Amino acid sequence: MKLTDTEKRMLDGAQGEAKQMALEILMQIGEALEADSFVEVSSVQAMAHFGSLHIAGRDWLEKLACLGGKCCVPTTQDPASIPFKCWKEMGYDEEYAKNQYRLSEAILKLGEMPKWSCTPYYQGTIPRVGQNIAWAESSAVSFANSVLGARTNRTPAGLAVLAALTGRMPKYGLYLAENRIAQIKINIEAGELSDLDYNTIGIITGKIAGAKIPALYGIPSSVTNDNLKYLGASAASSGSVALYHADGVTPEAILTDVFAGKRPEEEFVITRKDINDEAEKMTSQGAGEAELAVVGCPHYSSEEVIKLAELAEGKKVSDGKAFWVFTTAETESLMERMGIKAKLEEAGIRIMAQTCLVISPLVGGYKNLITDSGKFASYLPSEHNIKIRYARTKECVEAVMK
Ligand code: F3S
Repeated sequence: MKLTDTEKRMLDGAQGEAKQMALEILMQIGEALEADSFVEVSSVQAMAHFGSLHIAGRDWLEKLACLGGKCCVPTTQDPASIPFKCWKEMGYDEEYAKNQYRLSEAILKLGEMPKWSCTPYYQGTIPRVGQNIAWAESSAVSFANSVLGARTNRTPAGLAVLAALTGRMPKYGLYLAENRIAQIKINIEAGELSDLDYNTIGIITGKIAGAKIPALYGIPSSVTNDNLKYLGASAASSGSVALYHADGVTPEAILTDVFAGKRPEEEFVITRKDINDEAEKMTSQGAGEAELAVVGCPHYSSEEVIKLAELAEGKKVSDGKAFWVFTTAETESLMERMGIKAKLEEAGIRIMAQTCLVISPLVGGYKNLITDSGKFASYLPSEHNIKIRYARTKECVEAVMK
């Protein structure tokens, strides 16, 4: 690989052992991927949740911190595997929580910003069109590539921290313009689309596209960022879509010809019937009455929490049931200042800030869940051996509240 003078100095160890080791590993990966050089990345979304990193990942981050490793670009990380504020009260295992706290200490030593969310774009980390970043977490990657027009691969967790220490990633995959060209065309012909429909369209898109880049036609310009967030997260969970283009909506589809003058390899249509059929399939067979409603995958935005509070107005979570909202600490703090958090708590709705149910244990012994998220619906049944109902937010409220 061709190195700049700065990179040569890093490799010589002039900037410390942690950086040297990190760049050495990235170089080996780059050579295996036949990258000819590095790109400089302007931010990193890493991972430090015990549920996926386990002991080996914890030890690795602690080792990098002990070697004096420091992030040289703004670095955030995915949700943690426990809700920091209420894990004890909720009955999470103490040993498990201790390991998560050790990871928290390690990332602070490394200089990461402890935001603990899969939506760093709601927390002030907003890359520009064309900017190179190294983000892990498939839903955030999809949002960054597709909605913001930034450039990142689905960075493996092990490499993200190395990118944070060096500010570099091998130049491969979606960092290259020629690898961002759409391959298949999907026409959405389904009339008016609900919030839930965007999740379902994402699930269908992922199944059709696999790892290919789809160009979607028929998404109205009134679509919200939250809708696009769900579309991307769902497509990344049913397939491995890291980038989609939405005609007239996403930046590359506005600024360029996403097919670069070529014909699509294949063309598909998603109809209203396809969406309804897929939505029905996403509810587990034999799902019983929901005991727990879970929303916020990816993390709920402030606007979504406000909408939920409106839907829950005048209702209370029924005895023996629960309602959990996964979101950022920033949204929790805003809801507190707006008086909404107190109202939700009064209604029995619990804000679970900085964590996520896919990468944490499910406490409480619940067996039947309901969600408004395509990604939760895809992952939770196998993750926790539960049954799921997939439904609109309003139905989640009605299922566990009176
Ligand atoms: Fe975020 Fe967890 Fe869903 S990381 S996208 S809330 S699976």
